Amino acid sequence: MKEIWSAQGLSENCGNCGHIDSSAPSHHVMLFHGHSNPALAEAVAKHLDIPLGRALVSRFSNGEIRVKIEENVRGSRVFVIQPTCGNVNDSLMELLIMIDALSRASAYSICAVIPYYGYAKQEKKTSGREPISAKLVANLITVAGADRVITVDLHAAAIQGFFDIPCDNLKALPIIVEHYRALNLNREDVVVVSPDAGGVARATDLAEHLGAQFAIIFKRRPEPDQTQVIEIVGDIEGKDCIVVDDMISTGHTLINGVKALKERGAKKIYAAVTHSIMAGDAVSLIENSPLEELVVTDTIPVSPEALKMSKLKVLSLAPLLGEAIRRTHFNQSVSELFV
Ligand code: R5P
Repeated sequence: MKEIWSAQGLSENCGNCGHIDSSAPSHHVMLFHGHSNPALAEAVAKHLDIPLGRALVSRFSNGEIRVKIEENVRGSRVFVIQPTCGNVNDSLMELLIMIDALSRASAYSICAVIPYYGYAKQEKKTSGREPISAKLVANLITVAGADRVITVDLHAAAIQGFFDIPCDNLKALPIIVEHYRALNLNREDVVVVSPDAGGVARATDLAEHLGAQFAIIFKRRPEPDQTQVIEIVGDIEGKDCIVVDDMISTGHTLINGVKALKERGAKKIYAAVTHSIMAGDAVSLIENSPLEELVVTDTIPVSPEALKMSKLKVLSLAPLLGEAIRRTHFNQSVSELFV
């Protein structure tokens, strides 16, 4: 791996070194990151066996974001790893300013690697005079100078179409499938549950891969950040249930769903969620729920408080993201990563 990967730096067009290697792609690859998830960026760099690029990302005394790319990126294929999580506005602004700096420093191409895409829940108008913030964010990323986006489990797959540049929406599914296969659950007794109508495709995908049954919870939102279970369709009585979702924010969708499943006779209840935002009192809701185990990924840093929960398991997407970056750089298909 190291040999193949380091060969990319050997290029007749490369300003970073003087070598000629006609078998190698003609642009150097570089990885940068902002403040939103440095651990993930380091894990991806480690997976690819390349160093992270040096960049100063700090604040001016007036609070504005200050960026200085501290090495030559001219002619390079640059990947900026920055989920727009934590303080979503700061993370997004850091990403935009980094892209602008890299573009003005003559990077050959800039791929925004956004494992968690903030503002994704505002992807349509649900009533008059509302914004479509997910589209605005896509516009901002494009205008800043990105020419490609890699992301994971977008809240709505249609957000891909908000970009007029290539956007690969990777799935955490292969890693989640691997996790449950290793648990050796009896597939006859397993039901994969979608916590709402929007998650049906994700849940049926997982059910198919595990050879399990499928059920759906119908929920309503009386107001933002509140949920209420209306009905469960599917046979869950006496079964082990796996609830699968794209994100936990307040935890209400998941935990109200888990409670409703338990009340209707589910046996053990597991959950797999890609993006663990864990806002408000989500951690204590999860901790005090009948949930057996919760699997999340590292698209968003998991808080120390959440990490204390014995029922929490974090799966890393660094190998998946690293492989997507490697294939993008070598102009190889990423389709195989979609299971
Ligand atoms: C809903 O449409 C999403 O897929 C998630 O179920 C939801 O965003 C989770 O939010 P919360 O944890 O606040 O209920």
